[in-house]
Formats: sequence, structure tokens, C-alpha cells
Amino acid sequence: MASQVPSSPHPAGQPVVAAVVVLAAGQGTRMRSSTPKVLHALGGRSLLGHVLAAAAPLAAGTTVVVVGAGRDQVEAHLRDVAPGALAVVQEQQLGSGHAAEVALAAVPDVEGSVLVLNGDSPLLTTRTLAGLVAAHDAAGSVFTVLTAEVDDPTGLGRIVRDDSGAPRAIVEERDATAEQRAIREVNAGVYVANAGTLRRVLAGIGSANAQGEQYLTDALAPLVEGGAPTAAVLADDPDDVLGCNDRRELAERRRTLNDRVLDDLMRAGVTIVDPQTTWVDVTASAEADAVLQPGTQLLGTTTVASGAVVGPDSTLVDCVVEAGASVVRSHCLGAVVGPEASVGPFSYLRPGTRLGRGSKVGAFVETKNADIGEESKVPHLSYVGDASIGRGANIGAATVVVNYDGVTKHRTTIGDHVRIGSDTMLVAPVTIGDGAYTAAGSVITNDVPPGAMGVARGPQRNVAGWVRRRRPGTPAAEAAAAAERRADAPENDAPPNPGAHDDDEGQQTR
Ligand code: UD1
Ligand code: CA
Repeated sequence: MASQVPSSPHPAGQPVVAAVVVLAAGQGTRMRSSTPKVLHALGGRSLLGHVLAAAAPLAAGTTVVVVGAGRDQVEAHLRDVAPGALAVVQEQQLGSGHAAEVALAAVPDVEGSVLVLNGDSPLLTTRTLAGLVAAHDAAGSVFTVLTAEVDDPTGLGRIVRDDSGAPRAIVEERDATAEQRAIREVNAGVYVANAGTLRRVLAGIGSANAQGEQYLTDALAPLVEGGAPTAAVLADDPDDVLGCNDRRELAERRRTLNDRVLDDLMRAGVTIVDPQTTWVDVTASAEADAVLQPGTQLLGTTTVASGAVVGPDSTLVDCVVEAGASVVRSHCLGAVVGPEASVGPFSYLRPGTRLGRGSKVGAFVETKNADIGEESKVPHLSYVGDASIGRGANIGAATVVVNYDGVTKHRTTIGDHVRIGSDTMLVAPVTIGDGAYTAAGSVITNDVPPGAMGVARGPQRNVAGWVRRRRPGTPAAEAAAAAERRADAPENDAPPNPGAHDDDEGQQTR
């Protein structure tokens, strides 16, 4: 959620606004949440973050965010995502008009056009905002409202036009007549206004309405009555203007946003096998000829390069997946999966994991702060934390890098072409030299020099006849007796049961 809103330089020819004002002080009662509404997240940003991102390319000199409900949380979030924005406190939530008034009072020097936006419209695009500003300028308007034609206008302010089609008023649903409620053109909660005009008109707005609030929407009617030039501009895509007042709407906006992101990716050449179950944040990306299998989530700053395959059922947060790599049914945070490397199924890569070219993290493996070199393999059931592994090494099944002594984390270094035997405990800090082996089941507490075999386990002892004496009458005892009878039979010249010897070689798994 902390991905900073891009602050692009002012593009040539783009219309100019002196200030952007985002209204974000409302309680968001309908969310029924202890989190302020504008901080609820979808597609990799908060509601507020999306609004700020859409407005950022307009490169306004000043960005004001009106905060109130949950202001400490909202201010902390702003420091993360938009450090240049000015948070202005609206002590009491007396309505959107009051919020805009408080914002403008905090920047008394601002004059010219001001873009005012609700903080809860995450689907707004820069294109729509720039179009509104351009229309405002072209019409010589002092107050321009963005509108949309929707199938279901329930809950939204209606745009009342006169017989000539000119906007006359914005009427909130609660205050609307039955006739006005039938209007399907609604207020998007996005306005461009001349700063001086808006200051003046807001100062005169009362709260004689169903909610007893000072409505920003009430700015339009008195301007029209006074003969000032105003405009109402219909958005091309009605989806752009949809707000978010409760959890159902949040889910719907999230779906719409995701559809847009996936459409862009598919147009750019990414294969998305099942768009219904694939989720990609606006901040994540994938290159042409990447493949996203069903159940994939690319979150945060994740990037997936050409020819890489992610999924099915994988979640990647802030990861880099390089060309030709594959990640199958795994959960990865802050990891770099190198070219041609493979991960999964069922593995967990934690921050600081870096997989070299052609390396492998197989099934049921957890890694953290781990550099795994080119062509090295950790195929099964292992934990590799705070470690670096050279090239071409093989880490046997059930190896654990014991990195934590209960107080401090320590590092483990494993050289090139090392063979770690299955079920080795590498008690950090420890270094395994290039080309060394460890014996299966060893607890390695001392360094193993290059080319040596580290053995650290008890010698095997077979207690003959134990099952016959201690577990008489069990299927095991019967099986053992049968084996002994076969071995004793004169016609049977098979060798006796092997395995009674102890060797010092580590078993490898591949
Ligand atoms: C508002 C509009 C409505 C429009 C709809 C579009 C008003 C009166 N109504 O209705 O015409 O169709 O948006 O989504 O504006 N806020 C403050 N301080 C306050 C009150 C609100 O900062 O005292 C902020 C909220 O955080 C929110 C925005 O203003 O971001 C709009 O408030 P909200 O209560 O969501 O208005 P709606 O009922 O959705
Ligand atoms: Ca709203």
C-alpha cells in the first residue's frame, strides 16, 4: 500500500490547474470499519491513492487533502504515498462544501482553476480529469461539474438541466423530488472551479437539507442564478466516476479496476488464462509473452518478464520474475527469481531471496535472505535462511539452515558444487567450502573445508533379534521370522540381510 503516487512532470499542452483539492475527511460510515474509508485498498493503492495518482499528471502547484475522520492514519498514509501533499484538517465533518471551504482557506494564495475531487472514486483516470479541465477552460466556465449517465443512480446527486440543456442545479437524492429522482445523469463528485468564485459561493452555502450538511453540490445553483458561466461535462466512460461507499461497492470497484489492468496486459501480449481469478495491482507489470495461470496474484511492484510462467495459484508481492522463469503454487514476498529459475509447487520465498539463473527451489521449501547461485538446487522440504549458496550446489531434502540461536541470526555460506546430504542441519554461522559434501543426517556445527566430507552423526548399531524378544507376536516379528527361515533354508543361497554396515557417505536427493 505504500507505493508512492507517481509525480510526473507537467506534460506539454496538458491543461493547467493551480491546485487539486481531495475531500477525504468523511467518516465512511457505510463501510462499517475502524479504518477510514479512503484508506481501504484495491488494486495496490488506497481509494485516496488512486485519486491522487489520477490527478498527479496534471502537476498542480498545490495538492490539498482534507482530513478529519481517522486523520492520524490518513496523514501517515499521505506521508508515504504523497509526501508533497498538504493535509488540512476539517475538525467537524459538516459536509463536502464545508470541506472544500476549509481546504481553500488553508491555501489563501491559490487563484485560477482548482480541481476538487471526492476521495472515494478510485476509477478516475487522468484522461477524464484532463478532459474536464479542458472543457472548463474552453467554455470559459467558473464552475464545471463532471457527470455520468448511469443505469442505477440510487444514492447519487442528480444533474438538473434546464430546457436548453444547461445545468441548473445538483440535487442530492434525499432532497430530490420524484421527478428529479428519475434523472439518470449524476454528479461524479469531481469539479473544476475558479478559486475566487468557489471561495465566495461556498461562504454563502447553508445546510438546510435532509442531512443538515453544507453541500459542495449547492455551489452550482446560486452561480447559475447569478448568471455566471457554468458547465456540466459528461464522462466518456461512466465507470470512471463510480464512488465507493460500502464493502459491496469496494468489491465492485476492485473488479472493474482489475479488468482494466488485465485488458491492458492482454493487449500488450500477456497470456492470462483465467481473468476471473487473476489479480494484478496497478503498480505491477508483466511483459509480452509472460503467462499468468489461473489463481495468480501479482501485487505491489511485482514484474514478470517475457516467457516466464506464474501460477496456477501463486501470489507474488514486490517480486521480480525474470525471463523464462516459472513459479508454481507458491507464495513469494520481495524475492528475485532469476532467468530460467523455477519455484514450487508449494514453496514460500520471503524477502531477500535471490535465485540465480537456472536455479531451483522445489516443493515445500522456505527461503529468506538467501542467495541461491546459478544452477543450484534446493529441491524439497528445506529451510534456507540468511544464507548464500554458490553455483551448481545441491541441497538434499529436509536440510535446515539453523540461522537463529534464539537471540541473533547468523549467516551460512555454502560454496560452489557443494553436495549437502539429506537432513543436514547447518548450524550457523558455518561455511561449507567449494566442492565439499556433508553426510545425510549430520548436524554441522563446524566449517567443512573445500572438498571434504563433513560427517556429524552417531554411528549405526543394529541390535540383533530385538523385535523377536521385545515385540513378539506382532506382524513385524512374523515378517522377521519368515525372513530368517528363508535365509536358513539350505536351497536358498541369497546373501544375508545387508545394511548392517556403517558408511560415511551422505545420501543425495535430486
Ligand atoms: C457525493 C455528492 C453526490 C455525488 C457523489 C458521487 C455531496 C453532497 N454529494 O455524495 O452528489 O453524486 O458524491 O460519488 O457532495 N467529505 C469530507 N468532509 C465532509 C463530508 C464529506 O471531506 O464533511 C468527503 C468524503 O470523505 C468523500 C467526499 O467528501 O470523499 C464525498 O462525501 P460522501 O459522504 O461520500 O458523499 P456522497 O454521499 O457519496
Ligand atoms: Ca461517496
